[in-house]
Amino acid sequence: MKKILVLPGDGIGQEIVAEAVKVITVLQQQHGLQVTLEHDVVGGTAYDQKGSPLPDDVLAKAKAADAVLLGAVGGSKWESLPIAVRPEKGLLGLRAGLGLFANLRPALLYPQLASASTLKPEVVAGLDILIVRELTGDIYFGQPRGVRTLPNGEREGFNTMVYRESEIERIARVAFDSARKRNKKVCSVDKANVLECTELWREVVTRVAKDYPDVQLSHMYVDNAAMQLVRAPKQFDVMVTGNIFGDILSDEASMLTGSIGMLPSASLNEKGQGMYEPIHGSAPDIAGKGIANPIATILSVAMMLRYSLAQPELADHIERAVRKVLDQGYRTADIYTDGTTKVGTMQMGDAIIAALRHG
Ligand code: IPM
Ligand code: MG
Repeated sequence: MKKILVLPGDGIGQEIVAEAVKVITVLQQQHGLQVTLEHDVVGGTAYDQKGSPLPDDVLAKAKAADAVLLGAVGGSKWESLPIAVRPEKGLLGLRAGLGLFANLRPALLYPQLASASTLKPEVVAGLDILIVRELTGDIYFGQPRGVRTLPNGEREGFNTMVYRESEIERIARVAFDSARKRNKKVCSVDKANVLECTELWREVVTRVAKDYPDVQLSHMYVDNAAMQLVRAPKQFDVMVTGNIFGDILSDEASMLTGSIGMLPSASLNEKGQGMYEPIHGSAPDIAGKGIANPIATILSVAMMLRYSLAQPELADHIERAVRKVLDQGYRTADIYTDGTTKVGTMQMGDAIIAALRHG
């Protein structure tokens, strides 16, 4: 029996994960999914209850699980805490503690939402990009880091962008392997014209590409990539990049699809364990209002079924159910357009469950 650890986290995390758990329950009851669920706290909620954004026992449970389903962390309530105990440290601690180096962030435009994108429908119609973001290295984790006081009394903040060859190589392989299952194109994003660290990145990715002669590799500087994503996003198939560039570009890519509330993600380690979460944050401004879009989290369950639970058919089943409710015209506020039916978080979850039951 596979074990899933459920960590709703903070803000809308609570509401959207509740809907995703309902989806898992239907799959257990009606489709023979054999999993056990365990629930715990992370982020600001964990800090409030247990004094740490990632209590030791929660990390231990995550390590023992086959997969982790995470909502979101963070909120203004905890913003003045020292950085070491902020909610975000809970998320980063899980990524580092489980060695989740490969972050897959698909940006897929559902045709029903073409008019919800801020870009022209013809620019985004048919969009299907996979961003492969390295998740356990780079300036996020590099040492030294901190704020120091100079002899003249002025303070100076510093972080370190660092990548080892082995780290670059393993994420490049994830990108090339993923491209083989798609349109066989990889665009590696760096800032090799300025940063030595990413010059090495480019060199290593080019070397790894020799093992994948059937995949076409291109390179792009990150500033140009940011521009190309809004100019002509359909030129991309798989984009591979480091932690900080991937953080930024994946938020940008999400807007091509209409809403950040639609995008799931998978973070995988070398053992195939994974953590699954929407790419959006805890949205404190709408938390508790019952209006957040649960689709990104529900689609994250589909990714979990595909990558950690070896249930690709059930993953397809969820994705079909999401398509069906979009066809039926149900929209949460973030994807609402004239002529569709505005629903809240629970109603959206219920509509997806109804589609699952009858699909
Ligand atoms: C993300 C988030 C996180 C990140 C934050 C919450 C630490 O923005 O998953 O993209 O920067 O990686
Ligand atoms: Mg981000």
